[in-house]
Amino acid sequence: MSISKAVNRNVTSQNSVEKRLQIQHLIGATQIVASSIGSDVVKGLTQTSKSLPPCYFYDDRGSELFEQICDLPEYYLTRTETTILQQFAGEIANITGVCELVELGSGSSTKTRILLDAYQQLGYPLHYLPIDVCAGILESSAKQLLRDYPLLQVYALAGTYELALAKLLPTQLPSRMIGFIGSSLGNLTPRECDVFFSQITEALQVGEYFLLGIDLRKPKQILEPAYNDSQGVTAAFNLNMLEHLNQQFDGNFDTMQFEHWAFYNESEHQIEMHLRSKRSQIVELRALNLKVNFALGETILTEISRKFDLDTIKQQLTAQGLLPLQVWTDPNQWFGLLLCQMQASSKSEYASYI
Ligand code: TRP
Repeated sequence: MSISKAVNRNVTSQNSVEKRLQIQHLIGATQIVASSIGSDVVKGLTQTSKSLPPCYFYDDRGSELFEQICDLPEYYLTRTETTILQQFAGEIANITGVCELVELGSGSSTKTRILLDAYQQLGYPLHYLPIDVCAGILESSAKQLLRDYPLLQVYALAGTYELALAKLLPTQLPSRMIGFIGSSLGNLTPRECDVFFSQITEALQVGEYFLLGIDLRKPKQILEPAYNDSQGVTAAFNLNMLEHLNQQFDGNFDTMQFEHWAFYNESEHQIEMHLRSKRSQIVELRALNLKVNFALGETILTEISRKFDLDTIKQQLTAQGLLPLQVWTDPNQWFGLLLCQMQASSKSEYASYI
């Protein structure tokens, strides 16, 4: 079955840009309330150490704030990864040959343009499948890309990585590359990371590619400002999650009564991002039939951002059957970009090599 048939019900085709655009909504707004995503919120807010799923950062306002984070002087990640991509995108395109580009957490797709340029320069057909939980940014960035790349075809999927990866149809091109850049891997716990890698290997055929961008370990003095910027954009981004929950679940979080708190946990090699209650208070999320008590100073963990060691992650990928073909970094070794290829042998065979 072709992709166009599969998503036909959700397709708009009004003009030449829109003829090259298909958007499939994997979860409708009403379904979100009733789905397991809502129960994640209940679970997170009713356990002893409170937490919230990071996907709630990304409503339209959150996606916009995240774009601002990427431009902050303290947030070295985007700039560094962009430099690496600019330097090596041609090499990536040469290695993969013609392939469909799938991107998880595509956001504004700004860095993706570097890859599209490289594929375009080689005269390859451009098929792009952006995946994002925020349908608003997905659609606006796709339209902008289509205006800028006249031969591009976009098949956008609005939903979580898990749902989208499970929905991928076989590519129409000779190969596929799944891109997961921006160090979003660091936002998964080690256990979530294992599940995620198996979803990736399920979605890839032998010989296909996985492009991974990860933030590497470095001194706390560099890491902490990246998540505590002087203009307060990261704080606004973190607090916006509460506004999103208010809107989505008919809640009454007062963002003035919470504050952003982020620090580097050196033993776990991860930034931990919290929202801290500035007083004792009760918050209600009516659509979830939930009342939550907060003590003064109590925190909600909203995100971890793990910082990686290249050798360890290379071993882990290899053990999953995703063989790192090339690893590129910047001169400071602050960020790593790994191009991996899906191997034929079973995961257990690979695990025994290391
Ligand atoms: N993947 C990004 C990172 O780990 C996500 C991120 C950046 C983020 N800044 C943030 C998440 C601030 C929450 C708050 O760096």
